[in-house]
Amino acid sequence: MSNREIAPHTRGESLFVGDLPDPPGLLHAAVLASPVPHARVVRLDTTPAADCEGVAAVLTAADVPGENQIGGIVQDEPLLAEGEVHFAGQPIAVVVADTPRNARRAAAAINAEYEELSGIFDPREAAAAGSLIVPSRTFSLGDVEKAWKSCDVVVEGLTESGGQEHLYLETQGALVIPQEGNRLRIVSSTQAPTAVQRMVARVLGRSMNDIEVDVARLGGAFGGKEDQATPWAAIAALAAQILRRPVRIALTRPEDMQMTGKRHPYSSDFKIGLDTDGAILAYETTYYQNAGAAADLSPAILERSLFHATGSYYIPNVRVTALSCKTNLPPFTAFRGFGAPQAMFVMESAITRAAEVMGVDRRDIQRRNLLKEGDTFPYGMRAQQGNAHRAFDEALERFDVAAIEKDTDEYNRNHPLRKRGVAMMPVCFGISFTSTFLNQAAALVHIYTDGSISVSTGAVEMGQGVNAKILTVAAHTLGVDAGRIVIETTNTLRVANTSPTAASSGADMNGRATEIACTAIVERLRTVAAEILDTPADRISFDSDQVMVGGAASELSWEKLVFESYLRRVSLSAQAHYATPRIHFDRETEKGEPFAYHVYGTAVVEATVDCLRGIYTIDRVGVIHDAGKSLNPLVDIGQLEGGLVQGIGWMTVEELLFHEGRNLTDTLSTYKIPDILSVPEIEGHFLEDAENPNAVMRSKAIGEPPLMYGIGAYFALLDAMRAFRPDREAIFHSPMTPERVLMFLHGDRLDEEGVDVAEAETVVQR
Ligand code: MOS
Repeated sequence: MSNREIAPHTRGESLFVGDLPDPPGLLHAAVLASPVPHARVVRLDTTPAADCEGVAAVLTAADVPGENQIGGIVQDEPLLAEGEVHFAGQPIAVVVADTPRNARRAAAAINAEYEELSGIFDPREAAAAGSLIVPSRTFSLGDVEKAWKSCDVVVEGLTESGGQEHLYLETQGALVIPQEGNRLRIVSSTQAPTAVQRMVARVLGRSMNDIEVDVARLGGAFGGKEDQATPWAAIAALAAQILRRPVRIALTRPEDMQMTGKRHPYSSDFKIGLDTDGAILAYETTYYQNAGAAADLSPAILERSLFHATGSYYIPNVRVTALSCKTNLPPFTAFRGFGAPQAMFVMESAITRAAEVMGVDRRDIQRRNLLKEGDTFPYGMRAQQGNAHRAFDEALERFDVAAIEKDTDEYNRNHPLRKRGVAMMPVCFGISFTSTFLNQAAALVHIYTDGSISVSTGAVEMGQGVNAKILTVAAHTLGVDAGRIVIETTNTLRVANTSPTAASSGADMNGRATEIACTAIVERLRTVAAEILDTPADRISFDSDQVMVGGAASELSWEKLVFESYLRRVSLSAQAHYATPRIHFDRETEKGEPFAYHVYGTAVVEATVDCLRGIYTIDRVGVIHDAGKSLNPLVDIGQLEGGLVQGIGWMTVEELLFHEGRNLTDTLSTYKIPDILSVPEIEGHFLEDAENPNAVMRSKAIGEPPLMYGIGAYFALLDAMRAFRPDREAIFHSPMTPERVLMFLHGDRLDEEGVDVAEAETVVQR
C-alpha cells in the first residue's frame, strides 16, 4: 500500500475481487468438488444441475477448448477431473448461475458416483511405494561417512512438522469480463498475474495477448496465491468465454479450506555428530515431503528445504536428501518460508537432541556453530556477512538472556506445577528465487505533464507493503514528494512476463526496476535543466520537488521542468527491466551461488506451561533482525511481527488434520490460529549498520525470514516441559498443541493407571 491508499484502506474502501461492482449480466460460478480422496468417477450426470433454477451452464473437462492442464513444473494437474479424482476437494464440474447460491445448489444436485480406490496419505508410505513427484535430490558437502568416525557424540532422531492453512482474509477468487473480440479481462486475487494469463490462455486455447490480468491488491496470500489462485481464474474464464458473459467465482471459507493446498507437512530423519566441544562435524537428514496429489510448486519448495538444511550453521560434512512424496491429499503449496521452516525445524531438533545427550545447553551448541563470513554452505555458496554472529550476540546481550535463564530457573524451582522455558532461534534465509530465471522484474514509469507520476511494476501488493517500498524508491530516485506518485495496479498489459510476487523478493527486484526507470527519466530531465539553467548537467540534482544546482535550490521547480521537457519533445516515460546479477545454480552438481544474499537474525523466545492442564502461553519474544538499511521501518516491523506470530502459530496451535484423506480442520472452529490475546510481547530491533550492497537502496528483503523465529516457540515450550519431566526424552513433533504437551507431561502415567495409552494418543490426534 502506498501512503495515499492507507486511509481508504483503513476505512474499508479498498476493493477486493468480491467487492467490485457487478458488471451487467454477471454470472456466478461454483464448483463440484470430489468428496473422496481417490476414486474412479463412474457416473457424472449433470442434467439435474442444468435443470436447477437460474443455471446458465454446467461445465466439465469435456468443455475445455484448450488443454485441461494447469501443471506448472510438472504437467500432472487437470483443471477439472477426468475419469479419476486424486484428492478430496478436487474440482470436477463447474456450475454457472445467476446467483452464487443457485450455483452452489445446482452443483450439489449433480449426480456423481464414485468407485473408491485405496489412497496413500503418509509421505513415508508413498516413498516406500515409489510414489514420488520428481526424483529425489541430495546436497552434500565434505564426507559424512568419514566424519562420523571422528565424532565423540552421534545422535539420531525423527521429526514431524504439520501443514499450515494460509487463512488469507480474502478467499480465492476471480472476476472475468469478456471484452471486444471476446478477449478477456481478468481481475484475479493472485500473486502471479502472468501465471494466470499463461494458464488461462492454455486452458482456453487462446494466445496470451487475448488475456489481460489485473490485480489491485490481495487480502493476504502468504504463498497460497502463488500457484493456487490460477485454477479459479481459469474456471471463471472458461465459463466467461463459453457464455460470453462476465463470471465471478469467490470461494467460501470452507470451500477454500477444503479445496486448496497448504504448507507441506514433512516427516524427517536426522543424524548429527559432534565433538566434545560441541562443534557439529557431520549432519545427515532425509526429508519426506508430503506433496499431495499433484506437483504444484513442491519440487521448488523441496529445493529450498535442501538449501536451508543447515539453518544458520556451518557444518563441514553434510548429506541431505529430499523426497517429494505423492499422496491423496490436496496439492500442498507455497507458504511463507517455502520449505525452509521445515528444514530448520529438523536442524534445531537435531541440536536439541544432541544437547540433551551431551548434557549441555543447546544455546552453546547453537552459538559454537553459527555461520561466519566465508563459510561454505552445502550448495557451494559462501556466507558474505558475519551477521549471524552479530545478531546472536546482540540478542544475548540486549535481551540479557543470562538473566532470563536465571529467572527461569528460579521460577521453576518455586513453581511445582508451572514451568518456564527459553529458547534462542537463529535464522539465515537466502534471498532470490531458487529457479534462477525467475529473478527478473520490470517497471513502467510515466510522468504526466503536470508533474504527477504513475508507477507500474510486476509486484503485487498483498498487505506486505511492497507498494510503500516502491513508492519510497521512486520518490527518492526522482527527488520528489511521495504524494506526487501513484503506484498502479499490477497489470499484464503494462508490465509483462512478471515473476510471482514471492520468495520475499518483490520489493528488491521491482524496486530495482523502478529505480532504473526513474534514473533514465532523471538523466533526460537533467539535460533539459542544464540547458534551461545554462549550467553543466553534472551539477544538477533533484530534491524535494526542486531542481538543485550544486546542491542549492534553483528557481526551477519540478513541475516547470517537466512541462518544459514535454514542450521540447523529451520522453517522460521509461520502461526498465532488472535481472538479479551473478546468481547461478547447477542442478547437476547441486552447486552454485543461488542467492543474491542472506538475511540473518536471532530470536529469544520465552514460554510458560501449566503442567497440570497442558495449556501454555508464549510470553515474550525478542528479535534482532537484519533488515539491511530498511526501506520502511514501519513496514518491516509489521512483517517481523506478523511473520513471527504466523510461525508461532504453525509450531503451536495450528493443527491441520486429515483423516483418511478428508480435512477435519476446514472451519475456523476446528482450525485455530493465534488470536490477539495469545500474541506474546514482542520486542523487535534491526541490526544497525547492516547496509546491504546487493539490494535496492542497501535494504534487505523481509517477507519470509521472520516466520522462522516462531520455531523458537516449540523449543521454549519443550524446555519448559522438560523442566517438569527431565526424565523424558525430547519429542520433535509439531505443532506442540496443548494436547501434545499434556501427553508428554502425563501420557506415560496413564499407562500405570490402566488407561490405554494408544487409545488416549489417538484421541489426542483427532
Ligand atoms: Mo512465497 S511462500 O515464495 O509466495
